[in-house]
Amino acid sequence: MVIASKVLDRVLVLEMVRVTEAAAISASKMIGRGDEKAADAAAVEAMRAALNELAMDGTVVIGEGERDEAPMLFIGEKVGSAIGTGPKIDIALDPLEGTTITAKAGPNALAVLAVAEEGNLLNAPDVYMDKLAVGPGYPDGIIDLAKTPTENVEAVAKAKGVEPNEIIVCVLDRPRHEKLIAELRSIGCGIMLIPDGDVAGVIAVTDPDTTIDMYMGSGGAPEGVLAAAALRCVGGQFKGRLLFRNDDEKSRARKWGIQDLDHIYDLEELAKGDCIFAATGVTDGSLLEGVKRLKNGTMTTESVVMRASSGTVRWVRGEHHKGARA
Ligand code: FBP
Repeated sequence: MVIASKVLDRVLVLEMVRVTEAAAISASKMIGRGDEKAADAAAVEAMRAALNELAMDGTVVIGEGERDEAPMLFIGEKVGSAIGTGPKIDIALDPLEGTTITAKAGPNALAVLAVAEEGNLLNAPDVYMDKLAVGPGYPDGIIDLAKTPTENVEAVAKAKGVEPNEIIVCVLDRPRHEKLIAELRSIGCGIMLIPDGDVAGVIAVTDPDTTIDMYMGSGGAPEGVLAAAALRCVGGQFKGRLLFRNDDEKSRARKWGIQDLDHIYDLEELAKGDCIFAATGVTDGSLLEGVKRLKNGTMTTESVVMRASSGTVRWVRGEHHKGARA
């Protein structure tokens, strides 16, 4: 059982939704405009302003990059209106998860964040992470990154009481996944290829409506921590292993205190203790509806906010009127 954090109690759960709503609304102006950078910048600026209104002593542990590469919401940036006096909160954020999706008006772009007490979120470097996830209701340890994709599918199929060729696996559509896709096809699995957005891809395994049983393949490590925080709240299993393409990436990891570069992370090592995960849809997707712009400047948003200690999941539909404060 996860003990409820008194520190997080003071950071109102629903306040997190205002933060992701602000980022999503701002990014939505750039849907389909073909400009990834501008979409990201709009989300970043709005999320930062909303975070700075919260009475907390926040530190960005997963953000837009290192200080020299990101002007705002860089790793280590302090946010909140009570720095030095308020509750100490670590924040993993991605103001716009799916910059390319947004630029092309594709599905599943989200504004996301996860918060936990200081020290409870893995400070993941901006490298790739090999990811493996399955939804709730399976025996502990059913998935294992040390095993082959076939072995993992077979284990899940057996526990589900179906044949391996009835299992649906979500995979990012990338040339680097050619071998993985070929192996999954050879055992007859259904593969849902997604163009981007593996936070939503991983979370999809927790929702039977998506029909996705498993998530496999590599994507951003920061996105891995965000997805893990969500799975801590709604259940499911996740394994992650950092992948390094060169020595520079290895030294970045060591700089963030990671000693064992081959370690396979469990959910609790990526997001420990109590944590809160919030997301607002930017474009329509499997998890959330995107921002809708109605007549007279009114907008609607759909968000989800969940907490690990209680397992409470709240779906929040917002109606925002022109000129009103969020
Ligand atoms: P951005 O929002 O930064 O564009 O990330 C989208 C994303 O698809 C993530 O969901 C995923 O983890 C990562 O990019 C995969 O990286 P790559 O595009 O290099 O394969």
